[in-house]
Amino acid sequence: MTQRYAIVLAAGQGSRMKSKLYKVLHPVAGKPMVGHVIDQVEAAGTEKIVTIVGYGAEKVKDYLGERTEYALQEEQLGTGHAVVQAEMHLKDKEGITLVICGDTPLLTAETLNNLFTYHQAQNAKATILTAHADDPTGYGRVIRNENGSVEKIVEQKDANPSERLVQEINTGTYCFDNRLLFEALSQVGNDNAQGEYYLPDVIEILKNQNETVDAYKMPNEAEGMGVNDRVALAEATLLMRQRINRMHMQNGVTLIDPTTTYIDSEVTVGADTVIEPNVSLKGQTVIGEDCFIGANSEVLNSTLGDGVRVTSSTIKDSIMEKASNIGPYSHLRPNSRVGEAVHIGNFVEIKNATIGATTKVGHLTYVGDADLGKNINIGCGTIFVNYDGKNKHRTTVGDNVFIGCNANLIAPLMVEKNAYIAAGSTITKDVPTESMAIGRVRQENKLDYFNKLPH
Ligand code: UD1
Ligand code: CA
Repeated sequence: MTQRYAIVLAAGQGSRMKSKLYKVLHPVAGKPMVGHVIDQVEAAGTEKIVTIVGYGAEKVKDYLGERTEYALQEEQLGTGHAVVQAEMHLKDKEGITLVICGDTPLLTAETLNNLFTYHQAQNAKATILTAHADDPTGYGRVIRNENGSVEKIVEQKDANPSERLVQEINTGTYCFDNRLLFEALSQVGNDNAQGEYYLPDVIEILKNQNETVDAYKMPNEAEGMGVNDRVALAEATLLMRQRINRMHMQNGVTLIDPTTTYIDSEVTVGADTVIEPNVSLKGQTVIGEDCFIGANSEVLNSTLGDGVRVTSSTIKDSIMEKASNIGPYSHLRPNSRVGEAVHIGNFVEIKNATIGATTKVGHLTYVGDADLGKNINIGCGTIFVNYDGKNKHRTTVGDNVFIGCNANLIAPLMVEKNAYIAAGSTITKDVPTESMAIGRVRQENKLDYFNKLPH
């Protein structure tokens, strides 16, 4: 099989984004655009990927890590100049080189494969991936001769009025014969409206050398979209979201209203889970089967076992084991682990804590920096007092403990198993197993008080 290589262009500043963040790092459905591109290029089966970095090079490299090799483009003199930077890595290779931009996040491996296959079937030396655009503004136009064969690409800024009417656009993705690509690039000049070395000029150069150049017009035109500004970013995000939501529904997930369901690209959801409107599932989140994620919930970088119910709650960097439930209006803050069949009710905040199976934290409680055993009942309004103004301290509560309402548990503290804490207590000392702790002012009843007041 012919070797496949890829060059990903990611050195531009992206000035039209008007952003401190480099363009290719802007996320679409939770993943930087260049991450989507590399995912698809990898899936298309390439031997070697070279990413051209320039603006924000260190940030892009930090993000992509070892997945690709890198070539630095010190000055951004155009897409042709960018590809030249990969010469050292690829020059002598025999094979097909895919060139793709870091700002086309919607292209799929399937389309890239179709492009490779078409390129080989036509025995072409260069094949442009093109698409029909209802509004081609901003894109390079694919100019064909009277026989319909490809002549060249003309950039928007260099196009004459009739060329501007052409609706077949260059997606910025191409297959090239690797050696011919670098030979032709040495002939690309910068005498054009932008004073840049354009990669698309390679097409005309090869054509003039009587090499076969062709275009593969993809059926799913929306995939070819390039993101240059925030308007396009929102459009790409919408299309990506629709694609993700459709995939989950096809896998057996019920989305009550897909138009208001926001699922990042890395999230997995088990079958028969039901997701209500206005839910966001973000980052590296894993949701089991038969879960219910109620309206207005947000789950970030968290793992939910099968049969978990979340009602209007926020869960971050945490784990909920199977058949546990939370909400409405509760918050799992980072590093919390909620055990099997645990009940977390309303207005509860949990942070950096573990909660054993079947424990109940029903109402208006703060559990911070604590380890709770199994089958505990935490009364309404209980506060784990974890912070002394300088340091955080931990509390441990053993299995089967009963904590009455409105207790303050002042850490560091150990409440041993089968103990009881009386409602309204402020507990500052460890509580031994099977004992009852009461720490509150005793009640006095002043009799006949009513008659002492003037009436
Ligand atoms: C480019 C194409 C245009 C095509 C469109 C598709 C050229 C001259 N034009 O235009 O025909 O329709 O993409 O989306 O190629 N980059 C570098 N170094 C540079 C310049 C750019 O690495 O010196 C990178 C950018 O980071 C970006 C990609 O190349 O990822 C494309 O550059 P951009 O400026 O967005 O090109 P367009 O104007 O969109
Ligand atoms: Ca672009």
